[in-house]
Amino acid sequence: MTVLVTGGAGYIGSHTVKALRERGEQVVVLDSLEFGSREAVGDTPLLEGDIADDGLVTKLIADHHVEAIVHFAAYKAAGESFENPGRYFSNNVGGSTKLIDSARKAGVEQMVFSSSCAVYGTPSSVPVAEDCPINPESPYGESKAQVERILYWFERCLGLRSVSLRYFNAAGAAMDGSLGEDWTFSMNLVPAAMKALLGAGPPLRIFGTDYPTPDGTAIRDYIHVDDLADAHLRALDYLRAGGASTSVNLGTGTGSSVRDVLEAAQRAAGRPVPSQESDRRPGDPIALWADNTRARDLLGWSARYDLDDIVKSAWSWHSTHL
Ligand SMILES: NC(=O)c1ccc[n+]([C@@H]2O[C@H](COP(=O)([O-])OP(=O)(O)OC[C@H]3O[C@@H](n4cnc5c(N)ncnc54)[C@H](O)[C@@H]3O)[C@@H](O)[C@H]2O)c1
Repeated sequence: MTVLVTGGAGYIGSHTVKALRERGEQVVVLDSLEFGSREAVGDTPLLEGDIADDGLVTKLIADHHVEAIVHFAAYKAAGESFENPGRYFSNNVGGSTKLIDSARKAGVEQMVFSSSCAVYGTPSSVPVAEDCPINPESPYGESKAQVERILYWFERCLGLRSVSLRYFNAAGAAMDGSLGEDWTFSMNLVPAAMKALLGAGPPLRIFGTDYPTPDGTAIRDYIHVDDLADAHLRALDYLRAGGASTSVNLGTGTGSSVRDVLEAAQRAAGRPVPSQESDRRPGDPIALWADNTRARDLLGWSARYDLDDIVKSAWSWHSTHL
């Protein structure tokens, strides 16, 4: 039986494909390659195509005897989703709905879905637990919340069980040095800091230095990409063991400010990150970190890596893969 990984040629997807293969799973990847790269999946079978292509998905599931799907494929830039909400709803919600429908009709009963802490918007308190109100503040966050609801209805109506993993901020590169993030496409803090350090991009812009936080910059929960990959394997095991559909936060439970990340980057690189202060961005919550009790209790998961591991692994990847 095979696991279909949509978006498996992308950043988190490729690290998860690697982890699945390392424990002996059969894997097939479906990716449009709009953002991912073929090299990131090595010799894992990869079909280039769209999750919304019903004929392709149905045939792929039959040909490869797909038993479960890990669904990463989506657009992910919250800022861009304000400029082009239609693109986000069309791909993330429309594409996912078609994938889920095709998959269920083709007999798939289990799905692990890449959701996001963006479904919470600005929470009334931190750490954020899964029962915190769903209140997205961007079209991107809304698209993730809508897919979670669609999955709820597919379970109620058709018995498709799923785990929605609400990631906090994914960062870092594979600890064995074999994979990393393609910074061409990424708008996230850690790759932007690496670009600035290596002179491959402009000075890092610190969006907002007047937040009510200890150093004035926004606080996030940075989680190592290998820890995320591990959680997907555990979510699959949970579903295979008959676990009920649920949503699970994936974060370390520790908040780090933008300046904390820049200091970690300076420790890794041995020199300061060129940076400049900018205004706050719309839709950026002040502080966000996870209550990860459910991940621990239900999946037996906890983060193995901290902020220094994240930034060190990113530095060693980017400084050798310019
Ligand atoms: N990176 C983060 O910090 C973060 C945080 C929370 C949630 N997520 C979610 O995790 C998932 C993976 O994120 P990532 O950082 O690896 O992004 P990524 O852009 O590196 O990977 C996404 C992959 O999906 C593919 N794709 C997009 N639309 C597709 C479609 N219609 N059909 C087939 N392939 C398609 C892209 O080509 C790309 O390879 C996304 O759903 C994202 O929203 C990411």
